[in-house]
Amino acid sequence: MRKKVVAGNWKCNTTVQEGVELAKAVNELVATEGAKDVVVVLGTPFTHITKVVETVDNSRIGVAAQNCAAEAKGAFTGEVSAAMVKSTGAGYVILGHSERREYYGETSEILNKKVALTLENGLTPIYCCGEPLEIREAGTQKEFVINQLKETVFKLSADDFKKVIVAYEPIWAIGTGKTATTEQAQEMHKDLRDAMAAQYGQEVADEISILYGGSCNPKNANELFANPDVDGGLIGGASLKADDFLAIINAY
Ligand code: G3P
Repeated sequence: MRKKVVAGNWKCNTTVQEGVELAKAVNELVATEGAKDVVVVLGTPFTHITKVVETVDNSRIGVAAQNCAAEAKGAFTGEVSAAMVKSTGAGYVILGHSERREYYGETSEILNKKVALTLENGLTPIYCCGEPLEIREAGTQKEFVINQLKETVFKLSADDFKKVIVAYEPIWAIGTGKTATTEQAQEMHKDLRDAMAAQYGQEVADEISILYGGSCNPKNANELFANPDVDGGLIGGASLKADDFLAIINAY
């Protein structure tokens, strides 16, 4: 059953203390006013995860790491393994974000290892894909983004792929205020679902939550989420304000 999901990606923002306060505020708003049929996830820095898990009502709000190591364990100074993430009580890992691909050289080969370890540890990957502006301007975004999936999560078995949440984040819309139009979002989400159907069959494709990310905010979320193939959002800046994040959660 396809779920509506609204996940926050706090990125490299908030101290632990600020993050716990934000989580408390979101928890209270979701408990009292949050749409009951939406899966809510908070993507926090590693340092915050355990305290945020303790702060929220896990029956209503999940917690995500924003990355994990490509190795299971060992001499990899500074790395945080999927097993360590699991031990915090988090249930999700955001993987393949364009900022990690661009700034930290994450390739499909590296991401395949991270996806496998995430699944092996019983965590749900929130797997990001999306094209840069020059690809959009060239009109080859469909091939570009589908190829990102073909090189990674399309290599999974159908049973494992069904565990994945996919997030389409056009890079040119991230943090820019230039949100994709509702037509652009629906077109790409439909293209992705059709590619999933070609790979795994329509039944599996229809079970996958495909989230939109890229300057999604309380003003545009209703229109974006009204699309048949948009199943929620992966929210950056607007997730750092509890009221705005609640407005997006309730944007259906
Ligand atoms: O992962 C979500 C993020 O990339 C979107 O950022 O600030 O444009 O909502 P923002």
